[in-house]
Amino acid sequence: MESLSQEKVLVIDFGGQYNQLVARRVRECNVYCEIYSYKTDLQKIKDMNPKGIILTGGPSSCYEEGAATCSPELFSLGVPVLGLCYGAQLMSHVLGGKVERAAAREYGKTEVDVDVTSPLFCGVTPHTVCWMSHFDYISQLAPGFRAVATTANCPVAAAECQEKGLYAIQFHPEVLHTAEGSKMLYNFVRNICGCAGSWKMDSFVASTIEEIRKKVGNGRVLLALSGGVDSSVAAGLLSRAIGKQLTCVFVDHGLLRKNEGDEVESVFGEGGQFDLNFVRVNAQHRYYVKLAGVTEPERKRKIIGEEFIRVFEEEAKKIGAVDFLAQGTIYPDVVESGLGGESAVIKSHHNVGGLPDFVDFKEIIEPLRNLFKDEVRQAGLELGIPERLVFRQPFPGPGLGVRIVGDVTEEKVKIVQDADAIYREELEAAAAAYKKENGKEAPWMPNQYFAALTNMRSVGVMGDERTYDYAIALRAVQTIDFMTAECSCLPWEVLQKSMSRIINEVRGVNRVLYDISSKPPGTIEFE
Ligand code: XMP
Repeated sequence: MESLSQEKVLVIDFGGQYNQLVARRVRECNVYCEIYSYKTDLQKIKDMNPKGIILTGGPSSCYEEGAATCSPELFSLGVPVLGLCYGAQLMSHVLGGKVERAAAREYGKTEVDVDVTSPLFCGVTPHTVCWMSHFDYISQLAPGFRAVATTANCPVAAAECQEKGLYAIQFHPEVLHTAEGSKMLYNFVRNICGCAGSWKMDSFVASTIEEIRKKVGNGRVLLALSGGVDSSVAAGLLSRAIGKQLTCVFVDHGLLRKNEGDEVESVFGEGGQFDLNFVRVNAQHRYYVKLAGVTEPERKRKIIGEEFIRVFEEEAKKIGAVDFLAQGTIYPDVVESGLGGESAVIKSHHNVGGLPDFVDFKEIIEPLRNLFKDEVRQAGLELGIPERLVFRQPFPGPGLGVRIVGDVTEEKVKIVQDADAIYREELEAAAAAYKKENGKEAPWMPNQYFAALTNMRSVGVMGDERTYDYAIALRAVQTIDFMTAECSCLPWEVLQKSMSRIINEVRGVNRVLYDISSKPPGTIEFE
């Protein structure tokens, strides 16, 4: 799946926390880019024939022994290079300038004066705001460079050597806090590197379909479809490319959200909009039997994962040998696995991790392995996959198995499905009303929200009768990376209306609690 990469910018990763963000911002300029480790061989970099190179930030000090570095030759390839933060310091250091430790760290939003005659700052406001995060600074420019930006504490907030196409920025244009950072990156990739900006999702979809056809020929492809965004978009692409040569196996493990199995089937099954062989395996009861009486969360996860492999293996045997096993691996999976786009990654999602050992196939095909999540969503829309599927909130592979505390039973699954459906309906209705009234997204809109079933039963009273029923926990979190999260400040009415409907409409529930824990110390899921 390489043909779109003809016009390519390379992001050389020095370990900075924003490296993926740099790549995303470049792609927002409709320029294709890939991330490679700073250890990548120079010859390999040359062979990729990049239109530009960006060196990211990183935690090292470039003047220290053993610090992450690069070959001086990188700067004389005749390809424009932009160094960001550590990358800027390294460029200066390698080319004969001086980098030193400052007396104090410069951190946070900082006012910066930029020289708008520099092509890097063309169209940028002369006095603007940037995001700084550094201890070291460029105390002396490398020969041939001139400073083109300064802050109160940083004499060289940016530098350039136009003749050689070398640019250095001490701050982080990739971070949204740098007000005009996107413009600066646009100037670099589109004007300085001269990229035409042909990386667009409609052309990605069209050319990937062609590539899949070429690669697969008359072969058969098997895909495990979970109904999540990645596997759905992979299914859509493959179906458009090879139609019935594709078989999608969708395992309903009985731990999906309310009506979810039917929704997936209505899109990808018989009579849906895609031409493919769709196999739905209704394995609910197998899972309930295996999970009966198991209370330990990790054990439950293991059982669910293992059972998935068993079910899939049985289906794969019925289908027989296939030529390709398709996977919905996306670019962050590739980058995070440290392989930097070099070799096939087996996605370590619990649902598909391990599958390749049990399926008779010749090759893996990963049509989305170059895409970021937002690009996957755009491709999904291009393919006509319904918005509710494309913009689905994250849903864990083990499904409601990680939203039921204690043992899982069919009755508990039904309770949590019904309560969750009501809660999502109320929250989404309130969010839509807010958006309509205010013309913007509600500030409390969570990135993930769901109901979970606590294993707690307690005394209540309904009508004249005493009840002894379950407590439902509602969860709503705001998060950027899902590694840390804060509880959303949901409007009281949303919580109250959800509570009242859940208690009235879902049998077996007499209390509704709102989980206000953040992560850490909590987790997002409730298991
Ligand atoms: P936690 O609960 O660990 O969740 O704070 C962080 C994010 O990961 C999702 N999650 C999973 N996703 N398989 C997945 O595909 C899993 O086993 C799994 N467990 C948690 C969770 O929904 C949240 O978005």
